[in-house]
Amino acid sequence: MSNKPIFVTRASLAPLEEYTEILKGVWERGILTHNGPLVQQLEADICAELNLSHFVAVSNGTIALQMAIKALELQGEIITTPFTWIATVSAIKWEGCTPVFCDIDPETLNIDPAKIEALITDKTVAIMPVHVFGVPCDVDAIQAIADKHGLKVIYDAAHAIGSTYQGKSILEFGDISATSLHATKLLNTAEGGGCITKNKGLFHKLQRIRFFGHSDDKTDIVEDGFNGKLTEVHAALGLANLKYHKQVAEDRKRKYNLYLELLQNNPELTFQKSKTGECNYSYFPVIFESEEKLLKTENKLKETQIYPRRYFYPSVNTYTKVVPYQPCPISEDISKRILCLPLYWELKEEDVQQIIQIINS
Ligand SMILES: Cc1ncc(COP(=O)(O)O)c(C=O)c1O
Repeated sequence: MSNKPIFVTRASLAPLEEYTEILKGVWERGILTHNGPLVQQLEADICAELNLSHFVAVSNGTIALQMAIKALELQGEIITTPFTWIATVSAIKWEGCTPVFCDIDPETLNIDPAKIEALITDKTVAIMPVHVFGVPCDVDAIQAIADKHGLKVIYDAAHAIGSTYQGKSILEFGDISATSLHATKLLNTAEGGGCITKNKGLFHKLQRIRFFGHSDDKTDIVEDGFNGKLTEVHAALGLANLKYHKQVAEDRKRKYNLYLELLQNNPELTFQKSKTGECNYSYFPVIFESEEKLLKTENKLKETQIYPRRYFYPSVNTYTKVVPYQPCPISEDISKRILCLPLYWELKEEDVQQIIQIINS
């Protein structure tokens, strides 16, 4: 065993020399921010790599969600999932909207479209599902509900760079998708994120919101904006890492499949399913029969310096300091029994084998 301690993830980083080579240009130009040339290049290269219409690079995934809500001028109730990171809900609240929780499909772990309509009121303005662990939501069913009730759809696509539906990037669905380029994600800029939209008008509006709401000629304030800018230093890291994105994704898929192959015959475990589209294999969650068995396994792994993470635990609808409790029994139950196993570029196959052996025993 060479890489101990082993955490649930570790940032994928391009060789340092390749990063510093790009940084030389930043030093020469002296431009560190304000939609500089590297930010623009990163946006163009991500669009080319993933075949996206428009990508607005921003300082993190949470800001990307807030900007999506701002750009669509939403005020009211937003139906979302309780099985997510707190950022989904804090973004809704910081934009003055009210999160309404819809329980999840126990197999995909995404919002259950069959349960959305019952939650729609005259205050509902949007649906904000999450492509949990990169597994695509049922985008057709969700869009049909949104169209029927005149609602907007914002996807929290923080985990979903590289996930696809019918051969297209999952980021192209909904009015706006918000992704994260955080250190733990498949593609990272240390901190960072992006808004993706097919709508050219929304694209330009998001660019203005990112820059304090300035008009294009910077003589006026024309949007309710703020500072959502990504720096050139972060964009440089994104450009260096983007060259390795495919390799990193293929490596995760190989390790994901190894975990699945050697754990799937364990009768005490179940696994997240993709029902519509293909996930990006960026996380490997395991669902145990009981919380007790999860804790026992987690402790065994910790004894050998292996630290998986309880994503997402607890279910966000139970954070009563932030939101009034709304029952979501499936999310609450699965949150207690789910563990994400280590999965990252430098993780060795022998480490994966050891983790599997500890779990199976
Ligand atoms: C589902 C989900 N949404 C939003 C975010 C926020 O992204 P960021 O950390 O880039 O702000 C995260 C972060 O990991 C996340 O997991």
